[in-house]
Amino acid sequence: MQKDLIYDSEYWQGRWEEQQTGWDIGYASPPITEYFTTIDRDARILIPGCGNGWEGQHLFEQGFRNITLLDLAPAAVELMKHRMPDAPAEMIQHGDFFEHTGSYDYIVEQTFFCALHPSQRQDYIEKANELLTADGKLVGVLFDTHFGFDHPPFGGSKSEYEPLFEHHFELLHFERCSNSIGPRQGRELFIECKPKEA
Ligand SMILES: C[S@@+](CC[C@H](N)C(=O)[O-])C[C@H]1O[C@@H](n2cnc3c(N)ncnc32)[C@H](O)[C@@H]1O
Repeated sequence: MQKDLIYDSEYWQGRWEEQQTGWDIGYASPPITEYFTTIDRDARILIPGCGNGWEGQHLFEQGFRNITLLDLAPAAVELMKHRMPDAPAEMIQHGDFFEHTGSYDYIVEQTFFCALHPSQRQDYIEKANELLTADGKLVGVLFDTHFGFDHPPFGGSKSEYEPLFEHHFELLHFERCSNSIGPRQGRELFIECKPKEA
């Protein structure tokens, strides 16, 4: 059974309404856009906790059509729908990642992991594993720094994350990101993880 969310829809809606969205870089994250340049345009892609959906909008503009943008905050969903009037209705979804069902070739990680309470990291990893096909990949960036806040974002380090991810994933890439945006340089890991065979 799904546990209650520690930071629920009301919490995130409040952050959007109060414009406490310091995580939002205002465009698609370069490590992610670069990764997807060589990926098959038919790939099924989930972007959980997508916020303003910059990565999804970019991929849509690059010809990807099987994208699901998912966010728990109605305000984020409305913003995306407004900005992407050409996107099919099913592409932009309001919902909880932990309740989501589907089968994906890629799950994109961009400041969603850090939005969850650290006690939910294991659940995130298990859920991502469940939603991916056997050849699927969890791809994106994780903060490699501690913020010291008692609220999201929650940071961490490679040595903290690795044992958690290794339990369910083969870590194809799990290293210092070479093309982070300026303020995040030296503070992000680029990850590409493939589900381990059961
Ligand atoms: C730190 S923001 C990141 C947004 C976006 N990825 C970005 O980088 O701009 C985290 C987002 O995750 C959403 N969120 C939090 N918990 C969620 C959940 N359980 N399922 C889906 N979305 C969630 C929040 O509403 C918020 O928009």
